[in-house]
Amino acid sequence: MLKVEFYGGKGGVGKTTLSTARAHHYTKLGKKTLLVSTDPAHSISDVLGVQVGSKIKGITPLLDAIEIDPEEEANQYIDQIRKDLNSILSPVVLEDVNKQLRAAKIMPGTHEASLFDKIIILMDTYKEVYDVMIFDTAPTGHTLRLLTLPELLIEWFEGLIKKREKIVKLKAMLGLKDEDPILIRLKIRRDTFLKAKEMIRSDNTSIHLVMNPEKMPLEETKKAMKFLNDAHQPVSEIIINKILPANIIDPFFKNKIIKEQEVISEVKTLYKDLKITEIYMLDQDMDSNSLFRIIELL
Ligand SMILES: Nc1ncnc2c1ncn2[C@@H]1O[C@H](COP(=O)(O)OP(=O)(O)OP(=O)(O)O)[C@@H](O)[C@H]1O
Ligand SMILES: [Mg+2]
Repeated sequence: MLKVEFYGGKGGVGKTTLSTARAHHYTKLGKKTLLVSTDPAHSISDVLGVQVGSKIKGITPLLDAIEIDPEEEANQYIDQIRKDLNSILSPVVLEDVNKQLRAAKIMPGTHEASLFDKIIILMDTYKEVYDVMIFDTAPTGHTLRLLTLPELLIEWFEGLIKKREKIVKLKAMLGLKDEDPILIRLKIRRDTFLKAKEMIRSDNTSIHLVMNPEKMPLEETKKAMKFLNDAHQPVSEIIINKILPANIIDPFFKNKIIKEQEVISEVKTLYKDLKITEIYMLDQDMDSNSLFRIIELL
C-alpha cells in the first residue's frame, strides 16, 4: 500500500531539506520512493545535486524525483478544459469561453487547482510503482490547504449534478434523449474528487509540519494545526528544525538556547499525541554531501 507524506511549513524552515532527507531515509529501508516538489522554486535539484525537471527522473536505484511546474500544469489544465468544451458548446459560445479561459490561466486559484489535479494523478497512477511518495510543498501553505478541498468540491459538484439532471429530465420529456456531455463531465469531476478524498484521508497519507524553534513559527504552526484539524485533516508529526546545540557556551547563544527550549517544551505539551522530531542546526548548509547527517537524525 502506497504511503504518502506531505511536508509543509513557512518559508526557509527546512521543508525541502527534510523531505529530501526523509526520502533517502525510506530508500535506506529498501522502499522505492518518489520525491515530488510542488514548489516553483524547485530546490530539490540543489539538495539532490541533480537537475530534476517535470518528468520523473531516477536519482538512485530506489529514489526517483519530479518537479511539478504549477504554470505548465495550469496551461495543460486549461487546454484540457478547452478540449472538453469544444465538443459540447457551439462555435459562437466557444469564442467567448476561449477569452475567459485565456484569462483563467493567470487567475488566482488556477495554479492551485491544476497542482491539486497533478498530485492526485501522481498518487493514483504510480500507486503500484512506489512504496512511498514524499511531497515537498511551497512555503505559501496553499498545498496543504488544497488537501482539504475535495470535501467542499464533492458537495458543490453534487449540487451541479442534481441541477443538470433536472435539465436532462426536461429534455427527455421533449424527446431529446441523447447522453448529456455536461452531465458526464460533472460526474467524472465528482468521481475524481471522491477518489482524491479517499486517497488523502487514508491512514497511509500523513501531513508533517516543519518549524523552527521560535515564537513566531510556533504561532504559525498552531494556526496550521487548527486549520487542518478543523478540516478533519490531522497532522502526524511536527519537526522542529535548526535547534541550536546545547553545548554552545557563548552567553548570547545561551539565552537563545533557553528560549528555544521553552518553545520546544510548549510544542511537546500542546501536541503530546503527535510525533515530535527534533533536528539540530548543523554547522554547514545542506547539499547532497551533507544531507546524510540529517538522514541520520531522522
Ligand atoms: N538542520 C539544519 N542545519 C543547518 N542548515 C539547515 C538545516 N535545515 C535546513 N538548513 C538550511 O536552511 C536553508 C533553508 O532550508 P530549505 O530550503 O530546506 O527550507 P524550505 O522550508 O524548503 O525553504 P522554502 O520555504 O524557501 O522552500 C537551506 O540553506 C538549508 O541548507
Ligand atoms: Mg523548499
